[in-house]
Amino acid sequence: MIEVSGLTRRFRERTAVQDLTFSIGRGAVVGLLGPNGAGKTTTLRLLTGFLPPSAGTVRVAGFDVFEQPMEARRRIGYLPEIPPLYDGMTVREQLRFAADLKGLPRARVREEVERVAGLTSVDGVLDRLTANLSKGFRQRVGIAQALVGDPDVLILDEPTVGLDPIQIREVRDLIRSLGGRHTVLLSSHLLPEVAMTCSQVIVLNEGRLVGFDTLDGLVARHLPGRRVTVHDIAFLEEIFGKLVTPA
Ligand SMILES: Nc1ncnc2c1ncn2[C@@H]1O[C@H](COP(=O)(O)OP(=O)(O)O)[C@@H](O)[C@H]1O
Ligand SMILES: [Mg+2]
Repeated sequence: MIEVSGLTRRFRERTAVQDLTFSIGRGAVVGLLGPNGAGKTTTLRLLTGFLPPSAGTVRVAGFDVFEQPMEARRRIGYLPEIPPLYDGMTVREQLRFAADLKGLPRARVREEVERVAGLTSVDGVLDRLTANLSKGFRQRVGIAQALVGDPDVLILDEPTVGLDPIQIREVRDLIRSLGGRHTVLLSSHLLPEVAMTCSQVIVLNEGRLVGFDTLDGLVARHLPGRRVTVHDIAFLEEIFGKLVTPA
């Protein structure tokens, strides 16, 4: 569903993302893990076509993100690092706007707004101005916008940042429930988040891919003989420590 080949992005003399090659199958929930500055946000902006690459290609659902941007973007829901909310709009207006951008037929908009608002539990605040919402609700509206139009692929940049523990659990449950129907790639610098939500993990360090595997695969490779459970996330800390250079 997502095929990345030789993806590189330079900013002046700095290489933020270097020669990434990987592919993600339909319905997977994949975590993009790495310390701050590893290149996660840059990678996701490249994958969604918001940033042109210095080299390499990205295909989503078979469409080249840079050569067929309209076709590709129609299949992608994107939660950027900072959700794009307009202060003068209510949540309902914001979601309608997202539906317009996605090119949804007018007749489907009302129903679609209700659907994504229900999924993200913002149905109680549809007529509030986004400017007056708490950080947690703003983040949920951002996720709701990404879900508009039921895209094949969801790209979520740090989806639980700024949420309280209860909201984090709700968003995790939501993301887990989206797998299968959607292909999800989410970035995080939080190991537990990725361990609890994702079936596979991509580890970035200084712009390079240093690991891509299932959690079990990472354990087998880096901690051979160790038995781990979903609730024991210490193993991921250890693996992470082996793969990334300390900040
Ligand atoms: N627009 C930009 N101009 C210059 N440097 C950038 C820009 N965006 C990101 N970078 C640099 O690229 C590197 C990776 O950043 P980023 O992708 O935001 O990492 P992460 O999301 O993993 O924290 C950092 O060193 C950052 O300073
Ligand atoms: Mg980032």
